[in-house]
Amino acid sequence: MSFGLILLTGATGLVGFRILEEALDRGYKVRLAIRSESKIDQLKKALGSRYAAHDLEFVLVPDMGRDGAFDQAVQGVKHIIHVASPLPIPSEDLEASIIKPAVSVTLQILRAALKDKRRGVEKVVITSSVAAVSPSLPKAFDADNVEPDPQGPWAHPLLAYAASKKLSYNATRRFILEENPYFNIIHVMPSFVIGRNGYATKREDYTTGSNSIALAPLLGINIAQGRPGFACYVDDVASVHIAALRSDVQGHQSFGVNYDGLNGINWNDAIDIVKRKAPELVSNGLFSFNGSVVTQKVPFNTSKTEKQLGINFKSFEDMIIDVSRAYAAVG
Ligand SMILES: NC(=O)c1ccc[n+]([C@@H]2O[C@H](COP(=O)([O-])OP(=O)(O)OC[C@H]3O[C@@H](n4cnc5c(N)ncnc54)[C@H](OP(=O)(O)O)[C@@H]3O)[C@@H](O)[C@H]2O)c1
Ligand SMILES: *[C@@H]1O[C@H](CO)[C@@H](O)[C@H](O)[C@H]1NC(C)=O
Ligand SMILES: *[C@@H]1O[C@H](CO)[C@@H](O)[C@H](O)[C@H]1NC(C)=O
Ligand SMILES: *[C@@H]1O[C@H](CO)[C@@H](O)[C@H](O)[C@H]1NC(C)=O
Repeated sequence: MSFGLILLTGATGLVGFRILEEALDRGYKVRLAIRSESKIDQLKKALGSRYAAHDLEFVLVPDMGRDGAFDQAVQGVKHIIHVASPLPIPSEDLEASIIKPAVSVTLQILRAALKDKRRGVEKVVITSSVAAVSPSLPKAFDADNVEPDPQGPWAHPLLAYAASKKLSYNATRRFILEENPYFNIIHVMPSFVIGRNGYATKREDYTTGSNSIALAPLLGINIAQGRPGFACYVDDVASVHIAALRSDVQGHQSFGVNYDGLNGINWNDAIDIVKRKAPELVSNGLFSFNGSVVTQKVPFNTSKTEKQLGINFKSFEDMIIDVSRAYAAVG
């Protein structure tokens, strides 16, 4: 059974790869927009023989931010799931490496869908972030919170990244106001995404990105500057993206993904969780269990998502066990 074709960006990453698996498991066909031939090869390797080749298509889009980048790629698709966006990687020019591509790639996707003569696109689901809606002053908030645009220059890649998510969310809101698109736009706002990375081939793939925070206490790394104490399971993030395609999800909407949002998590609990629940990871000596992450409480209320989509978010224990076993297995 097939539910139609999805165009997916970002499948060569933690979140996008898990969405790809979930989409195929649920009976969708998927067209993957990938930046280079070598990544197509690595992606095929990561998928292995689990999925039928006729459910997958690849389209090479080397520069996703250029005008018309997706005009071919959207032909015949029913849904678009746009995951790809620059992560907080240091560079000389954060405006050029993070902000501009985040905004322009999102707009190119939306414009391609708008131009589609069939008017065949039903939904565009965009992987936004808690960073797009988080307030500058501490208070409880949810995925419908709207914040003013941040202004550069950006003192740190993390600030540029957070700004890129706010600015591309703003660009989409403006697109909705100006173009009144015939399709629905759904934003998914995850907190820190934790869990196995199906695209990863080596331990270093876990030492950047959100999983590195979860693993820091286990690996003897101290993060003293502090990190917000919110996290969600990569499986739940994928489920929310796919559930957003359901026909009962109508209108432009935002869905937060965050486990126990109002209470949050404490990153240092990972030590106790692994010792209790995964004794095999204690005896093999992989982890030194002497790191520490200063955890800041940031209440991000995502109960609407669980209620409306009928999903019970997995616990911090589930994420930690999954990511630490995956980290051990990949080496
Ligand atoms: N991980 C989290 O905690 C978290 C939380 C909230 C939201 N998100 C969002 O989730 C999405 C994926 O993040 P992730 O954690 O899966 O990161 P990841 O593992 O680093 O994957 C990033 C993906 O984005 C693509 N990408 C990066 N820069 C790009 C650019 N300039 N043009 C086109 N594609 C580009 C990468 O493609 P290449 O392989 O070609 O580089 C890769 O497929 C992002 O939108 C991110 O903001 C993540
Ligand atoms: C987007 O940001 C601009 C300022 O840069 C602001 O004037 C505008 O109201 C915002 N648009 C939306 C739709 O939020
Ligand atoms: C944790 O212990 C290891 C040795 O077992 C040491 O190399 C590392 O520096 C320690 N980390 C911290 C944060 O103390
Ligand atoms: C969290 O969000 C739900 C649904 O959106 C709302 O009913 C509830 O009052 C919120 N909780 C708090 C403490 O704000």
